[in-house]
Amino acid sequence: MKAIVLEQLNQQLGLIETDIPQIEPHEVLVRLKAAALNHRDLWIQKGQYAGIRLPIILGADGSGIVEQIGTHVGSNWLNKAVIINPSMNWGSDPRVQAKDYVILGTPHNGTFAQYVKIDARLLNEKPEHLSFEEAAALPLAGLTAYRALVKRAGAKNGENVLITGAGGGVALLATQFAIALGCQTYVTSSSSNKIAQTLKLGVKYGAVYNEPDWDKNLKQQSGGFDVIIDSSGGDTFAKLVDLAKPAGRIAMYGATQGVFNSGIPAKIFWKQLDILGSTMGNDEEFAEMIAFVNQHQIVPIVHQSFPLNQAQQAIDVMAKGEQLGKIVLTIP
Ligand SMILES: NC(=O)c1ccc[n+]([C@@H]2O[C@H](COP(=O)([O-])OP(=O)(O)OC[C@H]3O[C@@H](n4cnc5c(N)ncnc54)[C@H](OP(=O)(O)O)[C@@H]3O)[C@@H](O)[C@H]2O)c1
Repeated sequence: MKAIVLEQLNQQLGLIETDIPQIEPHEVLVRLKAAALNHRDLWIQKGQYAGIRLPIILGADGSGIVEQIGTHVGSNWLNKAVIINPSMNWGSDPRVQAKDYVILGTPHNGTFAQYVKIDARLLNEKPEHLSFEEAAALPLAGLTAYRALVKRAGAKNGENVLITGAGGGVALLATQFAIALGCQTYVTSSSSNKIAQTLKLGVKYGAVYNEPDWDKNLKQQSGGFDVIIDSSGGDTFAKLVDLAKPAGRIAMYGATQGVFNSGIPAKIFWKQLDILGSTMGNDEEFAEMIAFVNQHQIVPIVHQSFPLNQAQQAIDVMAKGEQLGKIVLTIP
């Protein structure tokens, strides 16, 4: 089969010919139709990710058709259109992942290939209203957004919600989910053009985070936030604490800006804030997220599609950060 295999760190990605994986009794073989990029694929390529094993087929997100089933797998899965839950070995505690938890695409071979083998428990039926490309854009970002917004922060209809960095894959899905919940949804972004596009989705107001007074403008427009979903960290965090209403919840799933160098702890306790860490999600949350997407007929936004053999061009676009939503690979 054809696959994008990372053999050395910092290597340019190219297509190579490799063996089709052999399945175990509890596994299935999925003939992939589309895969999607996540920032994590870039971190792995650059060697800035835990647990890297080389050579590796990158890719956590995929959609396709089940072509072979193991002897312990129900025959109803054969020939089904599916999307794959990339969250492997979450374990028995719904609150936190087990020690052997991993995400598809490192250290196990992922979805930038014509075939992937996975445990049948990670299969979910592809939502019928989504194309294979749109479905591939959903799993990792959708799961992360759903757990952070719905399960951890508990965002409710009518609440004021702020999503930072709305151009990102996770952030844009969190924005779409918040709008579907009936939240008064606000965003930040590096780009006024990206903000303009989110306004068309139903966002009330957006601020460009590189401009002075972005936080003051947001405060003036919104009156403050019940829920904030953040992947920036760094010095932005202190401003988010200011923007939160008393008893507000801040859920964090990334740290693009790095460590906290500023902030006044007393503001967190005096305002009775909940600061919530969130990473990926468990199997039940994945199924709930898919049901939510079906219920609200949510369509993930695909910024651009590339054929599999142009994976490096696709990752270069993500590295520049010019995208709004997901970058997808179509698989021949
Ligand atoms: N914990 C988890 O389970 C989990 C899951 C997925 C991702 N992540 C992490 O979350 C981050 C985003 O991942 P992704 O795959 O969604 O990435 P992505 O699609 O490549 O998007 C990058 C994001 O960074 C934002 N950004 C860049 N500089 C920023 C700043 N100074 N302030 C605020 N936002 C800034 C961008 O916003 P604009 O484009 O709007 O400027 C965009 O949202 C990465 O660090 C990733 O490792 C964590």
